[in-house]
Amino acid sequence: KKVVLAYSGGLDTSVIIPWLKEKYDYDVIAVCVNVGQGDELEGIEEKALKSGASKVYVEDVVEEFVTNYIFPTLKAGAIYEDKYLLGTSFARPLIAKKLVDIALAEGAEAICHGATGKGNDQVRFELAIKALAPELKVIAPWREWEFKSREDEIEYAQKKGIPVPVTKEKPYSMDRNLWHLSHEGGDLEDPWNEPKDDLYMMIVPPTQAPDEPEYVEIDFKEGIPYKVNGVEYGPVELIKVLNEIAGRNGVGIADIVENRLVGMKSRGVYETPAGTVLYIAHRELERLTLDKQTMRFKDMVAHKYAELVYDGMWFTTLREALDAFVDVTQKNVTGTVRLKLYKGSCTPAGAKSPYSLYSQEFATFGEDQVYNQKDAEGFINIFGLPLKIRALMEKGKAK
Ligand code: ARG
Ligand code: SIN
Repeated sequence: KKVVLAYSGGLDTSVIIPWLKEKYDYDVIAVCVNVGQGDELEGIEEKALKSGASKVYVEDVVEEFVTNYIFPTLKAGAIYEDKYLLGTSFARPLIAKKLVDIALAEGAEAICHGATGKGNDQVRFELAIKALAPELKVIAPWREWEFKSREDEIEYAQKKGIPVPVTKEKPYSMDRNLWHLSHEGGDLEDPWNEPKDDLYMMIVPPTQAPDEPEYVEIDFKEGIPYKVNGVEYGPVELIKVLNEIAGRNGVGIADIVENRLVGMKSRGVYETPAGTVLYIAHRELERLTLDKQTMRFKDMVAHKYAELVYDGMWFTTLREALDAFVDVTQKNVTGTVRLKLYKGSCTPAGAKSPYSLYSQEFATFGEDQVYNQKDAEGFINIFGLPLKIRALMEKGKAK
């Protein structure tokens, strides 16, 4: 009997390996999906084997992550509760997809993940598995095992003779990938506490960023960024370059008390340097290229899209349908945006597009071909008719 485990190399998923063997008598196939978590991946294969895994996969999906998960969400303009750029949320369905692929290829009967029973991640993993391979069993040790603390886990690891990962005791629960780094727990659990400057790993604390602003130019084609400062990059490189530029200027911190799907509020601090710059730039280009009605409707779609992604509803008909809508809106979202980065702020400093609907000629006060000022009188009379009718009615009643 085989189980596929979503393995990160941390304490929790390391302890899960002997636990699965003892409790379920499974052969454990450890799968580490690389979504850009960087040095967390060092020596991970050996670590998994030492903890008792019978086989290890390390799957590099960074490019797929950017192209099929990050960019569609960026084009949709989806932001959760005005602040969160969904960095963990859209990585989970992709990780789950890889777990499913391997489980099916290996003939495993179950998938196991290390998300707790109080969070969003369990929902995202499991909804994705249901959508892709409903026949697979799911095991979520946090919902069934007896460990109450880190110390319990360490004690169990020692009893089972597996090496306890020598990570420094981290005060926060973190999740890292190419797009973002999340911090939850510890002193952040009190929303009155300001995040400490030394918490940041991708971003220089804004007060310590350079005293001179830095400009950056981003080119988009049909809503997809492809150039930074005139240089063309592939999707993964582009985000790396922007992480660097935004990060050194203190740009991309979001501090939010958010509503979890499972009901409680939680406080998170997110570092999303490239993402923050890209969202602002993309929106700026839409200001030039989208007509008013499309823009208004797209705002509603963005809202719904963010909720779907946050709630783990990635592999759904609705999400695909919203993608189709968004893609139509992006046909003309092509052009260049210039931004000014300065001590944590990111301010648009210019935008241009060959498809711009903005016309200096039409907006100006002079004479022009498309607008006759006389037409405005009739327009206002009819647009204002309901106001006039109500006023007349109220006057009549007053008599
Ligand atoms: N609150 C964020 C979300 O629900 C981040 C979750 C981070 N997950 C983690 N295992 N540390 O998307
Ligand atoms: C967890 O509970 O495993 C992390 C937080 C979350 O999923 O919301």
